[in-house]
Amino acid sequence: MTIRLAGILAGIGITAVLVLWSLVPGVINLVTGPPAEKPAYYVFKEDPVAPEGGFSFAGAAGKWDYAQLQRGYAVYKQVCSACHGLKYVAFRNLAELGYSEDQVRAEAATWNVPGIDPATGEQIMRPAEPTDYFPNPYPNNVAAAAANNNAIPPDLSLITKARADGSNYVYSLLNGYVDPDPEKLAAAQENGFETPMGLYFNPWFSNVNLAMPPQLYEGSITYDDGTEATVPQMSADIAAFLTWTAEPSLIKRKQTGWFVIAFLLFATGLAYLSYKQVWAGKKPKKK
Ligand code: HEC
Repeated sequence: MTIRLAGILAGIGITAVLVLWSLVPGVINLVTGPPAEKPAYYVFKEDPVAPEGGFSFAGAAGKWDYAQLQRGYAVYKQVCSACHGLKYVAFRNLAELGYSEDQVRAEAATWNVPGIDPATGEQIMRPAEPTDYFPNPYPNNVAAAAANNNAIPPDLSLITKARADGSNYVYSLLNGYVDPDPEKLAAAQENGFETPMGLYFNPWFSNVNLAMPPQLYEGSITYDDGTEATVPQMSADIAAFLTWTAEPSLIKRKQTGWFVIAFLLFATGLAYLSYKQVWAGKKPKKK
């Protein structure tokens, strides 16, 4: 008995020491230290916002909007693919967007990928097959940086996973080239803020100056399905497409979740009934 009590007390003591140890220096710092200094660009920073009406795949009962994914693919092909690769996506994956096998084959053939001339062994470009992956527009990072004011356009396959609130982030970023608020700008400039030559102001980018010029303009592309190609529309469509490239099984995962919950409820019911069955013959003991 005394040993057990001593053990419990020792445990509580050690925990208390550890908690205080991790807490006290922080509290002292908070009270006595200087206030954390925010960089000058901080006043402009915006949190990602969802497109008007939200994304069809958001929420527990979300679904892909296949027409939107196809439009997003069109934006990628006609605009983004000039600078960004999609190395984890193969042309055959496009079948999941609702294209037939023949359409996928024909679509793949409109892209060129590096290949080898079977006669000479020399490097050539050849039309892509459905089994090929989307090509990188630049042969290597040095070439990519040289063409883009020293910034390397990242591969976009997983970008919606690599950024916080990724789908909304990509939408906000592409739709977010605005002029800085003049009042905030005047204040920030006093603290040394500027948008250097060759960079572009965008309050959604991590330090609000990025090397990617605005990409989307009213009517930049023409949609096959007749949807009006406004900047918010194209931004939402490409964000949806890049959500699909990052997690093609997103919707399946959500549906599996519902199934698992239903099954667990069912199993709970069974467990309860068998508990009733097992103890059916026993009466509670009278005190
Ligand atoms: C002219 C080349 C070019 C085109 C075309 C282009 N980008 Fe970029 N993009 C860049 C560069 C360069 C960067 C790196 C910017 C930096 O780090 O400052 C970048 C960065 C990005 C980022 C990452 C931002 C971050 O948080 O790091 C995203 C997302 C992106 N681009 C999306 C797109 C989409 C979507 C399209 C098509 C609508 C597109 N880009 C078209 C050059 C381009």
